[in-house]
Amino acid sequence: MSTSAKPKRIGILTAGGDCPGLNAAIRGVGKTAIVEYGMEVLGFNAGYSGLINGDYIELKESALSGILTLGGTILGTSREKPYKGNKNGKDAEDKPHKIMKNYKKLGLDALVCIGGNGTMKTASLLAQEGMNVVGIPKTIDNDVWGTDVTFGFDSAVQIATDAIDRLHTTANSHQRVMIIEIMGHHAGWLALYSGLAGGGDIILLPELEYNIRSVCKKIESRFESNKPYSIVVVAEGIDHPKEVSAATHIAQAIQTYTGIETRETVLGYIQRGGSPTPMDRILATRYGAFAAQCIANENFGTMVAVKNNDLTTVPLEEVGGKLRLVEPNLGLIEKARKMGVSFGDEYM
Ligand code: F6P
Repeated sequence: MSTSAKPKRIGILTAGGDCPGLNAAIRGVGKTAIVEYGMEVLGFNAGYSGLINGDYIELKESALSGILTLGGTILGTSREKPYKGNKNGKDAEDKPHKIMKNYKKLGLDALVCIGGNGTMKTASLLAQEGMNVVGIPKTIDNDVWGTDVTFGFDSAVQIATDAIDRLHTTANSHQRVMIIEIMGHHAGWLALYSGLAGGGDIILLPELEYNIRSVCKKIESRFESNKPYSIVVVAEGIDHPKEVSAATHIAQAIQTYTGIETRETVLGYIQRGGSPTPMDRILATRYGAFAAQCIANENFGTMVAVKNNDLTTVPLEEVGGKLRLVEPNLGLIEKARKMGVSFGDEYM
């Protein structure tokens, strides 16, 4: 913790699962910090591991050019959780202690932690230790509590929608049921948005309890109404036996109950790869530039957020450990139901 009046030296890290837009956010923070506020910027490698091990690079402005459109993160990431299993904050070997030592040794005035829920929880604990922390929410899951939107989500919706579009043509040719499993962990945002954008006939979300007979009834009624193929969009987090994927579980059940030829696709990590969409580039840039402004204004212990399209901040301690899930009575779901989209819960 510096005694200087204004923050001069800041660190940035990206933690948790990667997503498109991380480099745009690093660039937004770094360029604003350097150009507008004359700060020095250090980038920690591989998430919280870099902070624990003092593994960092200096980020000059030139290093921040040409990265806006790049997928992944130039800093690397990891799922390191420094507080996991840590019972004694005073132990010289413990990770939070090492982080504090490095923070002081490097003369940091502030730290920007870019990540999802787990990252924000750690960021909040580091802030409680006395570090000046600002969080930036990212994840394809769009499930960070306290903000309306995370960057990475729009790019993943685009990728998943493209995949659903492609399944439509092959489903139609073969008159099959096509199941596509979409990421999102415990949240159904990605499945809901890509499912609706891709014209999915049935969308199964972790937040809505489904009944397989309901799903089959919908598929059979489509066949009877001269729609001999169906697209079923399944969130990875729906209730299913752990030995098989959610997609396999649903595909096997549909094939068994209806006798209709069914195939499954698990889209997987493709959803996290590649260049961010223009919307994600803009959101990540807004978040990054605003985070640098928060540091300059010494607005610490906060996460930058968007509410009703305006930038704002929320206290990190309010964010940690919570999830923003799809509300079952969301307007979008109600509208979709009125158009005949099934959520697998109609005949329960
Ligand atoms: O949080 C992003 C995400 O891709 C989730 O949708 C998914 O459940 C999880 O990460 C996968 O985690 P990992 O990268 O550790 O395999």
